[in-house]
Order: sequence, then structure tokens, then C-alpha cells
Amino acid sequence: MDHFLYQDGILHAEDVALPEIAAEVGTPFYVYSTATLARHYRLLEEALSPLPHLICFAMKSNGNLSVLRTLAGLGAGIDVVSAGEYLKARAAGVDGARIVFSGVGKTREEMRIALEGGIRQFNVESEPELQALSETATSLGVTAPVAIRVNPDVDARTHEKIATGKKENKFGIPISRAREVYAVAARLPGLDILGIDVHIGSQLTDLAPFEEAYRKLAGLTRALRQDGHDIRRLDLGGGLGIPYERSNAVPPLPLDYGAVIKRTVGDLGCEIEIEPGRLISGNAGLLVASVIYVKSGEERDFLILDAAMNDLVRPSMYGAHHDILPVVEAAPGAELRPYDVVGPVCETGDTFARQRALPQLAAGDLVAFRSAGAYGAVMASEYNMRPLVPEVLVRADQFAVIRARPSYDQMINRDSIAPWL
Ligand code: LLP
Repeated sequence: MDHFLYQDGILHAEDVALPEIAAEVGTPFYVYSTATLARHYRLLEEALSPLPHLICFAMKSNGNLSVLRTLAGLGAGIDVVSAGEYLKARAAGVDGARIVFSGVGKTREEMRIALEGGIRQFNVESEPELQALSETATSLGVTAPVAIRVNPDVDARTHEKIATGKKENKFGIPISRAREVYAVAARLPGLDILGIDVHIGSQLTDLAPFEEAYRKLAGLTRALRQDGHDIRRLDLGGGLGIPYERSNAVPPLPLDYGAVIKRTVGDLGCEIEIEPGRLISGNAGLLVASVIYVKSGEERDFLILDAAMNDLVRPSMYGAHHDILPVVEAAPGAELRPYDVVGPVCETGDTFARQRALPQLAAGDLVAFRSAGAYGAVMASEYNMRPLVPEVLVRADQFAVIRARPSYDQMINRDSIAPWL
């Protein structure tokens, strides 16, 4: 459930009419709903209670300062994957003790920044990384809290570009070698080996792969404890999927996901962490665009929008489906017609949807892409010298621009002319 509904025939974000935002901000823009973010966060809270736990929002899905602060205010920790994300989480007011540092290629410089600023835990993904972290922590005279990411060799049954838990993927250390690697880690100075981490992929619509991975993790926890390691924290990653098509089957509910966690690892006495991104932010955001032209081709009609693949890359990158709604609700029984919905970028790949059934639309009309709150704005670029799309946060009947559209001057002045030119 989200808070983007029609009121008197006009699509609203909570109690704000989208045309009102469009008039002030211009299109395209992203808009997020505070109530939806909070609802999704609370559903996960309920799903994990009463286990001791921390929900670390994966800020790679939506890194806006206001979104981070909203979630941190509800009690969330943050999962970061770069020094930039770490510093941004800190700038949002999140204490280092609530920040988990994931990622397959952390540099020593990134480790130093997090160690100096304070960090809850590093999720370490390889033996060379363990070595580098040990050396960095030792040189700073501190101890780095560590969970080692294991690759459980589980098929997440999701899009190949976002599956991470099979042994051929680049992530984590093979679970078959885990005891050996933990033994090495325990001998390295400057590390406190406190847990195990796993993340098998994103947009999972089936609980079975989670169950399989978490069972393996429970077995490994027992084995590592026998080996003398004080395993007290399990990071179970993110990845629970969301409904992208309202007409489609509903993915598992957070409560059912929580039940899987409880029955697989709930009796180990470990503190549980999860790193959800999409589940919290995905359906808490829309991308709103205007129709620039309706072009009637020989075979099909094109709806040419002022949003493009640089603003929302998921359809062209993953073939992802996003529902598209007219901001002015179609009259009941209005005839639908198939449109190819495209952006103005000079690539055929700049296509959001083919032959999508929509009510008749005309130049100047507004449309909204649903499920755009995760991996939308964060993956946007300025390709074709198109300004980075602005972001707006709504709370009840208020809205605020939380990232402004850059001006052309700002964009141009980020380059400089080489002195010999
Ligand atoms: N933790 C780790 C270590 C991850 O790699 C990810 C996502 C997450 C947590 C959060 O996963 P989520 O709960 O959001 O599924 N750009 C792609 C998704 C890439 C996901 C990468 N890792 C997309 O637009 O579908």
C-alpha cells in the first residue's frame, strides 16, 4: 500500500495534488511520501519483533538526505557502500554506531574515513580486504568490527544483473571456505570478528531462497561457534521484492519474511540486521513527467515525455516494468489505447514501455511512473546534458524540494577548460 491516490480525479501524493508540485518545481521530478516510507519501515519492524534487531536502510536505493533523516528518525540504521554514502549518512545525522559498511571493493581510504568517523560494522567480502582492514585499523590504533559476507550458493531467482548469491557471482567468500577464512581473520590484529553477513540478491519475489540461505547461515553460526568464534550478529542483507505491476501476484509480505527469519536464525541468540532498500523506498516514490508530444508513427503512437532514460534507467537497463498513471484520472469506461512511452534521448533504448494501454493523452498532460522511489533518482545521470531530476518530499499536505534541479550554468561550470586551450 502507498499514499499515491486519486482525490477528485487528480493523483495526489498524500494530500498534495501532483499538478501543484509540477507548477512550482517543473517536470520531471521525483516525489516521495513520508507516510509510505514510515509504513514500510514499521511493517519490517513489526515483522522482526521481538528479536533484537536493527533495520539498516540500503541508501543505495535512495540516498536523499531528507529520506535518510526521515528513516533515521524512526530508528533505522543505514547500510552504505562507499565513503560518499558513509559521509552522506553522517550528514543526515546518523550516528556511526548505526552505519554498516558493505561493498565488494572498499579502499583503504574509505576504511579510514569510516574508522575515524565511527562505524557499526564492516561487511568484509574477501581475504585481501580482511588484510587491508586489519592493517588500516592497526595503523589508526583502533579495532574494526567485522562481519564476513559469505556466498551461500543459493539461486535468488531474480534478474541476472541483481542476483548475488550464486558461487559464480563476485560477492562474498564461498560458504564452503568460511571456517578457514574465519580462522585466518581471528588471527589478524585490529579486527573484532563479531558476525556473519549474507545478501543473495534484489527484488526477490519468493521466500524459498531466503529460507535456504538463512538455514545455511544458521549451520555456519553453530560451526563457527564450535571453532571458538564469538558470533553475535547476523546481517541477513536486503532483497525482499515489491509489486511493480499492480495487476501481478503480490510478493511475500514482510510478516512472512520475518517468520522465515525467526524460524531459521531466531533461536541463535544473535542480534539480527537486515539491509532493505527497495522494500522501504520503492513504492514510496513516483517520477512525474509531462507529455511533450504525441507522435503518430506508421505503426504505433509514441508518447514523448520530458523524462528519459537518464532520469529513470531501470526500464532500459533491466527491461523493468513501471506502472504509468495519468495524473488526471481517466473517466470511468474511457477507451484505452496502446502507446510506446519514450523519452527524448537519442537512443532507441530510451523507451519506458511499449504498447502500454493508457487513456488518450495530449501534449502538456502529466503522467506518473509508480515504484520509482528506489534505484530511480540515485541512478540518474546528466546524459545528453539533461539536468539531474529534482526530488520532492511530501508529508501530509506539505511538500518541500529536497534536491533542486541544477541550472544549466551550474552544470556547465562543473567542467573546466584545459589551460592550453
Ligand atoms: N545489501 C546489499 C549488500 C546490496 O547489494 C543491496 C542491493 C541491498 C542490501 C539492498 O537490496 P534491496 O533491498 O533494495 O533489494 N539497481 C537495481 C538494484 C540493485 C541492487 C543492488 N544491491 C535495480 O534497479 O533493480
